[in-house]
Amino acid sequence: MATKPRDRSGPRDPYFDQMQTALMNAGIATPTLVIDRMRLNANVDALMSHLPQKMGYRVVAKSLPSPALIEHVCERSGTDRLMTFNLPMLSELSEMMPEAGQLLGKPLPVQAARRYFDVLPSGAEGAKANVQWLIDTPERYTQYASLANELGQDLRLNIELDVGLHRGGFVPGDSLGVVLEQIKANPRANFAGFMGYEPHIPSLPTDSWRDAALKGAWKIYSEALAQAQSIFDAETMNHITRNAAGSPTYRYYHDTEVANEVSAGSCLVKPTHFDTDLLEPHQPASFIATPVIKSLPTTRLPGMEFATGAQRAWNPNHDKTLFIYGGHWLADPVDPPGLSLNSIFGRSSNQEMLNGGPELDIQPDEFVFFRPHQSEAVFLQFGDIAVYEDGAIVDMWPVFPASA
Ligand SMILES: Cc1ncc(COP(=O)(O)O)c(C=O)c1O
Repeated sequence: MATKPRDRSGPRDPYFDQMQTALMNAGIATPTLVIDRMRLNANVDALMSHLPQKMGYRVVAKSLPSPALIEHVCERSGTDRLMTFNLPMLSELSEMMPEAGQLLGKPLPVQAARRYFDVLPSGAEGAKANVQWLIDTPERYTQYASLANELGQDLRLNIELDVGLHRGGFVPGDSLGVVLEQIKANPRANFAGFMGYEPHIPSLPTDSWRDAALKGAWKIYSEALAQAQSIFDAETMNHITRNAAGSPTYRYYHDTEVANEVSAGSCLVKPTHFDTDLLEPHQPASFIATPVIKSLPTTRLPGMEFATGAQRAWNPNHDKTLFIYGGHWLADPVDPPGLSLNSIFGRSSNQEMLNGGPELDIQPDEFVFFRPHQSEAVFLQFGDIAVYEDGAIVDMWPVFPASA
């Protein structure tokens, strides 16, 4: 027989109480994405302190989708390497930080690359030579080689490796050898390195599976490097980018034998999808804060008012009702404790219903806090990010436009 759920509601965490006061003092009264800058800094420091000697760090721009946030992380970590995933971000970052190196994290259709050169503002001219275009197939190489010829522009090409994720890319062998030879023979193409991403490994069910998958990934990477070594001179090989990892896996890298840089973004703000054992040293640093519009002492479902008593008796967590400003985000309520969505009432982007237990004590205009599941799309839904530090909102950071 199912056991009766226990009441999960209770008093608000003082951490969120302070954040609420800061928001109110700043005159904020709409759904807002808040970043705790002290926690963000601690996360950057945790990341940097885990990197072995000589390991480079590349900021994953899509997971920190605000120019000021990216700039802050670059400054704090001392890196000028970015991983970019779409044309608008590539263009904007080229203008904002022309000296930064940008590695595409996914292959862009060649037309998008052509457009990049077409619309590049004069202030971003210097950025052109700092972009590494990602090549995943022989066909993509041919397209980019034609573009380089057409534009009279040298292009740096980075080869995507399939190190076990099976999201495309090359594996060591004939086809990789042919592309590497073609790059070497093409005066307009420069071999910039490899990118091999392996986020599937921590989700594998046992230590031995994970171990085998990691060894497998590094074997593939090493074989690709050996193949490149047989084609390019030592000078080229000494300077190539050997990119690997992401937030879930950067801590697997204890030396620079295979990779010489890791990329990560999400672990610095730590949405819930990154609550993993390996990322235990990182703290949640991003929250959605939204005002309560209505706080009701009972939960009454439309057309099912007769069930109210029985539902309350069975599950105390459905005792009280809040309607909040907005909702339906990829996020979980975290404070006040014990709040849950009502699956019968359903979701709403306008005024979402949340239920809580008898101890829930929150009034209209006070804030409910959520933790996002991921950052890349969620951060773009609230306008400027409110930067929280020392009990106050100290800055507002604009975000990138929500485009792909
Ligand atoms: C190629 C590549 N590298 C690294 C990352 C890691 O990003 P994050 O650290 O935000 O998980 C991603 C995320 O999608 C990716 O696609």
